[in-house]
Amino acid sequence: MSTHSIASAREHRVTVRTLAARKRRGERIAMLTAYDFAFARIFDAAGIDCLLVGDSLGNVVQGHDTTLPVTLDEVVYHTRLVARACRRAMVIGDMPFGSYQASPEDAVRSAIRLVKEGGAQAVKLEGGIGSAVAIARIAAADIPVLGHVGLTPQSIHRMGGYRVQGRTDGERARVIADAQAVEEAGACAVVLEGMPAELAGEITRRLSIPTIGIGAGAGCDGQVLVMHDMLGLNDWTPSFVKQYADLGALAAKAARAFAEEVAGGKFPGPEHCYQAS
Ligand code: KIV
Repeated sequence: MSTHSIASAREHRVTVRTLAARKRRGERIAMLTAYDFAFARIFDAAGIDCLLVGDSLGNVVQGHDTTLPVTLDEVVYHTRLVARACRRAMVIGDMPFGSYQASPEDAVRSAIRLVKEGGAQAVKLEGGIGSAVAIARIAAADIPVLGHVGLTPQSIHRMGGYRVQGRTDGERARVIADAQAVEEAGACAVVLEGMPAELAGEITRRLSIPTIGIGAGAGCDGQVLVMHDMLGLNDWTPSFVKQYADLGALAAKAARAFAEEVAGGKFPGPEHCYQAS
């Protein structure tokens, strides 16, 4: 590969430099979750900037009630599928519960696995002040890292459910301090989840790194949605989600048509059959 083609391949790929430039220029960042090759290829070609292999795979792929059972091996596996499909989008591997909380060394080892075995270009972990040392150590290993503050699903038992954060003065101060700690620790961006729009806007103005909102209003530098929510693949949709398609209904209709045609002997037709010669 010539120096020129290395340079143009790099220019093409969304990197930490792209994210920083978007923040400077006030241009928004679009992020979706993805868990497999097929959807990652579609989203990458559609121009989605970042694909997050979220630990939400515990809910939407594995059918658990929480993200807590998801293992690092599982996220590494799904990250590999997504990374294989991506030409332009930045692939972010989510660090599951238990892969970074015990020690900063654990955090660095887990992040290295997501990059080395999964092919991620960045990792994400939950928590603010409490995760600052882990973020700093991962960043020191030259791995771009995103923070995640506000409603952090891995803290479901501490929060007492999936509750919007930052509605009281005390909670508001804590969410702001968490976001600032993430930036000071060296994160390249931060996900703001489940908080009043006004608070997310305030954090976005205070931070010099991009904020990516989910259930955090329109004042963030970017937005992320779980693909199953925005494509209508779940049996319910949270109120902060806009459903852009109803693939669940389409898939059910297709499956019913298939079953009927099999029962009625209409499929396969002659055009679907191999001939002897
Ligand atoms: O796991 C995930 O999908 C996430 C997003 C909701 C930000 O963390």
